[in-house]
Amino acid sequence: MTEQDGAFRTEGLTKTYGSGPTAVHAVSDVSLAIGQGQLVLIMGPSGSGKTTLLSMLGGLLKPTSGRIFLDDLEITSLNEGQLPKVRAQRIGFIFQAFNLLSSLSAEENILFPASLVKQPRPAETGQRAQRLMERLGIRQRARHLPRDLSGGEKQRVAIARALINNPDIILADEPTGNLDTRSGHEVMMILYDLVKDEGKTVVIVTHNQVLADMADRVLWIEDGRVRDRKDEMHSWTNDPVCGMQIDQWTATFFRSHEGKRYVFCSKRCQERFDAEPARYASLGSIQGNIRPA
Ligand SMILES: Nc1ncnc2c1ncn2[C@@H]1O[C@H](COP(=O)(O)OP(=O)(O)OP(=O)(O)O)[C@@H](O)[C@H]1O
Ligand SMILES: [Mg+2]
Repeated sequence: MTEQDGAFRTEGLTKTYGSGPTAVHAVSDVSLAIGQGQLVLIMGPSGSGKTTLLSMLGGLLKPTSGRIFLDDLEITSLNEGQLPKVRAQRIGFIFQAFNLLSSLSAEENILFPASLVKQPRPAETGQRAQRLMERLGIRQRARHLPRDLSGGEKQRVAIARALINNPDIILADEPTGNLDTRSGHEVMMILYDLVKDEGKTVVIVTHNQVLADMADRVLWIEDGRVRDRKDEMHSWTNDPVCGMQIDQWTATFFRSHEGKRYVFCSKRCQERFDAEPARYASLGSIQGNIRPA
């Protein structure tokens, strides 16, 4: 597969929030290609720019500079009238907080994006919703409101909603972040099947290691800069405070305590550790100083 076949291609993609001395360079000069039918994970510490990057890929957020191509279509050149249509037809979004409409039933939520696009065969949309619910094991929940669904069920409704227009791309931002381990695992496997069985391109922002070995690519983002990490040497350890898996070679936040070394996903976890080192010190230490100075 050449880079030209990529479902996504970005050139010098940059997002800066604010300006002047308080400007935040959330994504800096990212050029990458993601091939059709790939499962790509975006991983990295909190605040590193993952959501910003995914939102720009999906056309939900306007970049400060740079270009994004969806196949041959430059989505960064589309205007506010053209973009929503492309988004609704080609891209399905799944969010950590599910983002279901609280006054609509599960089935109505699933059907909602279909109402935004002109359907070539409207009669088939209802059937498609039924099939999706069947496949995701939520058919018995069709008439329930979101508040009467479990977290795992809500996320499966959100996945069905993302699939209703049969998009070729699924973008998911921490889809398992609000789920227990078992539901999270199920959701990850559903996303995996979409790539393997249907050839969809699936890009997932996640802290969850379950899919890392199955992914075609793992993009590591840190301070707004992206690099491939699949072929690189890395060595996982756990943040002793939140438990997140972190590469000890690239961690930005670290501390030594009683001769042992600890790495953290964020300043916040590091500060928690500093406040109560004895509480966390039994977890996640690295023997010796193996990170180059
Ligand atoms: N609307 C905004 N205005 C100003 N700064 C923002 C805005 N959104 C995000 N940022 C900043 O941009 C940086 C990247 O944020 P982003 O949400 O992309 O990170 P993330 O990697 O998704 O983090 P997390 O893992 O915590 O979700 C952070 O420093 C964040 O504070
Ligand atoms: Mg985020």
